[in-house]
Amino acid sequence: MIPLVKTNLPAKDLLMPRIEEVLYSGYISQGDIVEKFERKFEEYIGSGHTLSLNSGTAALHLALILAGVQAGDEVISTALTAEPTNVAIKMVGAKVRWADVDYNTGNICPDSIEKVINSKTKAIIVVDYAGIPVDVKRIQEISKKYNIPVIEDAAHALGAKFDGKRTGNHFPFTVFSFQAIKHLTTIDGGALQIQDEDLYEKGKVIRWFGLDKKRTRLENNITQQGYKYHMNNVNACVGLVQLEGIDKVVEQYIQNGKYLDEKLKNVKGVELVEYYENSEPSYWLYTLKVEKRSDFINMMAENGFMASELHKRNDQHDYLNDYPTVLTNLDNFYERMVHIPCGWWVSKEDLDKMINLIRKGW
Ligand SMILES: Cc1ncc(COP(=O)(O)O)c(C=O)c1O
Repeated sequence: MIPLVKTNLPAKDLLMPRIEEVLYSGYISQGDIVEKFERKFEEYIGSGHTLSLNSGTAALHLALILAGVQAGDEVISTALTAEPTNVAIKMVGAKVRWADVDYNTGNICPDSIEKVINSKTKAIIVVDYAGIPVDVKRIQEISKKYNIPVIEDAAHALGAKFDGKRTGNHFPFTVFSFQAIKHLTTIDGGALQIQDEDLYEKGKVIRWFGLDKKRTRLENNITQQGYKYHMNNVNACVGLVQLEGIDKVVEQYIQNGKYLDEKLKNVKGVELVEYYENSEPSYWLYTLKVEKRSDFINMMAENGFMASELHKRNDQHDYLNDYPTVLTNLDNFYERMVHIPCGWWVSKEDLDKMINLIRKGW
């Protein structure tokens, strides 16, 4: 079965000597290698400061803290995402306020965001779902108009672009995940790309129990709640080796995605997802909308290809559904939505097989 997601690690002879060196260097916790990974990641993104962390969820939590979200506040978010996006909102004691999605893209709809903004709204989380960039321009305008910070959850969208610039450049906070099956894995890990230097410095302290690493323990005085969220040298070493080959990996997702976009046009029973003007997805999953979804999934499975909706709509989790909301576009999108394999492990032959199967019908 060709899977929907797969772990990508560099060749053994490239990775193992580098890891071995770190493992026996006597310094495996957060140190020089972490620093090096962060500076290289900053170069890759192109602007802002990289705070490496031990998960994308930690990055979401930290972004919410740095955005000033507190217990009782509201955060506008989408229900079409992996659970960590919305679980993180609950970690700061805030409530989740749903905005609907745009039926054409599956991403959070700017008009719907605007409709649910109220005096308790303290942040907006937008998700580049499946690797498709959100409507950056409109969301930036809303953020400015209402003076509400935006956190971009780009866990699915490393290397995706808007206006020629990679995710990580468009909002004050961008979250990346380096968990096992993402474009870039450090085994587990994440990063928060922060545009403001003072907030970045504050983030460093919160990442490490509330302690300032520039001072000795004895000189420190904890003044706020902190966490143990840092990355270590071993994970950072994996990240550094991964970064050396990341352009090639991301390009494979993109080339496969573009090929599917081209070949699945005007196929009966299939509606393609659209992309916003000036945006370039990085196709972590290939998303399409199909009629009779369960028949489609069965047909693909019988022929050796995994197809799935993958994520449960988050408003179906009681704990996350603070304000039950009618989400008509999401209802229509989710009923038809399915992901098919598209990453570096999918060969041209696999793509053609899938295309022929879909064209034949189900
Ligand atoms: C959209 C989204 N946001 C956040 C996360 C959290 O990342 P992590 O698993 O690194 O904590 C994930 C992945 O699990 C995700 O898919």
